[in-house]
This record gives sequence, C-alpha cells and structure tokens, in this order.
Amino acid sequence: MNTIETEFAASAAFASEMDKKDPLRGFKAEFLIPKDESGNNVVYLTGNSLGLQPKTTCSYIEQELNDWATLGVEGHFHAKNPWLPYHEFVTEHLARVVGALPVETVAMNSLTVNLHLLMVSFYRPTSDRYKIVIEKNAFPSDQYAVRSQLEFHKVLSPAFKRPAFANEPLDSFSSDSSTQPPEGGPQNALIELAPREGETTLRSEDILETIEREGDSIALIMLGGVNYYTGQAFDMKAITEAGHRKGCIVGFDLAHAAGNLELKLHDWDVDFAAWCSYKYLNAGPGGIAGAFVHERHARSFDLPRFAGWWGHEKETRFLMGPDFHPIAGAEGWQLSNPPIFQLAALRASLEIFDRAGMAALREKSVKLTAFLEFLLGAIHDERISVITPTAPGARGCQLSIRVKDSNKDLFNALTSKGVIADWREPDVIRVAPVPLYNSFTDVYKFAEVLKSCL
Ligand SMILES: Cc1ncc(COP(=O)(O)O)c(C=O)c1O
Repeated sequence: MNTIETEFAASAAFASEMDKKDPLRGFKAEFLIPKDESGNNVVYLTGNSLGLQPKTTCSYIEQELNDWATLGVEGHFHAKNPWLPYHEFVTEHLARVVGALPVETVAMNSLTVNLHLLMVSFYRPTSDRYKIVIEKNAFPSDQYAVRSQLEFHKVLSPAFKRPAFANEPLDSFSSDSSTQPPEGGPQNALIELAPREGETTLRSEDILETIEREGDSIALIMLGGVNYYTGQAFDMKAITEAGHRKGCIVGFDLAHAAGNLELKLHDWDVDFAAWCSYKYLNAGPGGIAGAFVHERHARSFDLPRFAGWWGHEKETRFLMGPDFHPIAGAEGWQLSNPPIFQLAALRASLEIFDRAGMAALREKSVKLTAFLEFLLGAIHDERISVITPTAPGARGCQLSIRVKDSNKDLFNALTSKGVIADWREPDVIRVAPVPLYNSFTDVYKFAEVLKSCL
C-alpha cells in the first residue's frame, strides 16, 4: 500500500469508530434515504439543497388529509391539530433552531417573498442613507430582490434626485432638476462585497471596514449567513454590531445557515432574517419558509408593511373590519392563511431537531466536515481544491470543491457511482455532510469514490 492507501485504510476504521461513538447516530434511521439502481442507499451529501424526508412526514400530512376528508371546513377548529392556529405549532421549535424568541419568529411564504416583505419595512432609503450592502456573489435571487427594491424606491433610476428634506423617504422625491444626485451617483447605491484579487472568500475585516467607511450612507446590510457557493459563514454578530454602530439596519438570508449553524439571532440583535426550510430543515421541496423580526421591532406599528388578513390581530381578525391592526411581533408580517400540509411537513422535521438540539448537531457537524476536509487533503490531487474557509467558525457543514478546468465529468462520474452532491457553475462541487443523517462512514465512502473517479 502507498501512503494514500494507508491513510485511507486507517480512515475507514476511524470513521466506523466515530460512528459508534456518535450520540446522534440513531437519527439517520429516522430519514428516508434514496437508493441507487442496485437498490443500495446513495451517499447523500446534498442536505444543503434539499434535505431528506423524515419517516414521520407522511403521517403528519396524512393526519391533515384525513381531518380534511372527515371534517371539511370544521377542521379549522376541530381537526386534531386545528388549522386556524396551526402555524403556531411550529413557532417555538423554529425559534429554538435560529436562537430567537417565539414572538420574533414565524413560518410563512417562501424565502424570497419574505425577504421582500421584510425589506418593505426595513429598507427605508432617504437621501443621505440609501445604500444596500450585499455579497457580490450572493445567490441570484437576493441580487434580483435588492436590485428590484432599489428600483422600486427609484434609487437606481436616472431620475433619482435629492429630496428637499434629508430624511424624506425617496418615494416622495421631486424631480426638480436643481437638486443633485447623491455623491458618487445612484449606481453606487449597491455596495457589493467582493473577495480581494486572487481570493475566493470575503475577509471579515474587509466587510467591517466597508461598513465603517460607508456606514453613514448605508440603509441596509443584507448578507447571507452562509454563502451558497463558497460555504463561507459570516460573523453575523460582528457585522450586526458594526452596522448598528453606524445606524444601519442589518438583515440576513439564512437559507444556508438555518439548521446548519448555531444561530443566536436575538442575542446578536439582528434586525430581521428569512430562510427557507427545504434545505437543512428537511421540510420538502418548496417548503414553507421562516422569518425573524427582532423583538425590538415587535410593536413598531408605524413601520410601513404590506398587509394581509393573517397578520391582523387574532382577536378581531374575524370581525372583518376595514382597518388593519397588525399582530405584535413577526406574525404581524403574515399575509395569507398558511399552507397546512407544508406546515405539517415542517413540523415533522422540527420535532426531530428539537430532540437532537442545535448545539449537539453543530458539535457533530464540525467533526464531520473536518473529517471530510482531512480526506480531501489526503487524496493529494491538484485537480481539486477546497475554496471554503478552513476555520470551523467561518463555515457550516458544506465544503465547496473547486474542480480544475471546470471539469463536470468528475461530478457526473460521482453521480454515476451513487454519490449525490451538487454542481454549481462554473467549477464547484458542493458537498454537505449534515449531522442529522450523515455518518462519518458516508463521508469516508464519498472520499473513496472521489479518489476512484480522479
Ligand atoms: C441563499 C439563497 N437565497 C435565496 C434562495 C431562493 O429561495 P426561494 O426560491 O425559496 O425564494 C435560495 C435558494 O436556494 C438560496 O440558496
């Protein structure tokens, strides 16, 4: 055996030892794992894209289907789990996953919709403070969302003019040509954080320095908690503090962070956040998303918001009055009565999260990813390199493997050998061992297959 073979042989034994000692090992059996053509379980490392189905999901949804069949509309009040308050059944679980108070948390809509609804309230540009900070390589939907918000507020429009009064919202701008556009021009309304030349991830110090330098003109900082492409996790606490010191609103897209990192949204004082639940939260394709609004804003009824009847005070909602009185807290941002089957699926998964606990999950996750990183290094092949930061605090479970010459054949070969990872153009294979249902042996098998494909 050469050195690589020896290292791998030792790693197989290590993986099985780690699995035996793993206090969370029982959870794998609670999930349905897809099979390959020969009927063997695939090595599923794509919980960062679509989490696996808990075995209980079916019965949770069936319960609601049965109650609908037998009760019809009466199910709103008399279903085993009445539909009227159904979204409340997930609130506490969801709050625990993201480190929030129940009043700060709600399950509703989908992710991009929630980002927009929250920006309606929390992106309030004025002539002096109108910029938005995002990552240059943020997920495209976030790019589209913030750009469309800028356009909606006319910040990107050539007709953008300073208002007569510094703090007048931009919507009411006059087109008086004697006034001047903001210094640097409206195109500077979007600050896109880019890695330094020759680097692939952002440096914390650069993010903080930008906030310090531009802060007086920044209305909103909206970053991902974990970047979808590089797997880099941001220091949300430091970014929020830096933003607040300069008077900015700070929000996060937690698509790749919720259920992955141990979040403390309340303690970090984040203003708002939104996330989807089909990735790490295993709520199924297109699952109902989550939103967080800090307790500080719970009673800010003067904030502009798009209203719908489900956000109206519960006591008087059914009086069907003409005026909107929002519920205090995140629930006040709801628009419509929620999709019960989706909530049921989310509930099935969150009950598993509750039993496992985010602290224990994260502890295992750090070890799983470190093991993956070790094995990738042990392959010693210059055609692959990891672009995700090496510090555990600067990443979640995902490692992004850059493939030289954008060679997608490698990814296709992995797939044909029963490994489900994902490919992101132009040259990255994303691999995410998730602590709920991935084992150290899964990670080992992946590395073995990868080695054989190279
Ligand atoms: C970081 C990030 N933001 C936004 C989205 C868009 O999510 P949705 O289609 O649920 O709005 C995704 C989807 O994968 C994502 O990864």
